[in-house]
Amino acid sequence: PFVVTENCIKCKYTDCVEVCPVDCFHEGPNFLVIDPDECIDCTLCEPECPANAIFPEDDVPAGQEAFVALNAELSAAWPVITTRKDPLPDAEEWDGKPGKLDHLER
Ligand code: SF4
Ligand code: F3S
Repeated sequence: PFVVTENCIKCKYTDCVEVCPVDCFHEGPNFLVIDPDECIDCTLCEPECPANAIFPEDDVPAGQEAFVALNAELSAAWPVITTRKDPLPDAEEWDGKPGKLDHLER
């Protein structure tokens, strides 16, 4: 499956959700995750993310391995999102900042 990684946090652009054919994105307060049991590896979401936060499970950036388990855990708790909405208000400022995992809200 594909995985949403750290740079989504506090940006949440939501362009990704519109293209998923199997509705596997789930929404939390400031982050989205992919349900690994639903993702069919179609690859459509990866180029849609303005924050380049989506990667195949086997190719997540070094140091972000924890996001594989986080996508599985949080997708079970958060509701499905299928419609694009406005990004978070300070998305541009947060795009690319390091250490955003500390700001993940559940
Ligand atoms: Fe959805 Fe395809 Fe992205 Fe998986 S790879 S989350 S099925 S758009
Ligand atoms: Fe997040 Fe990128 Fe989707 S910032 S909400 S993974 S478009």
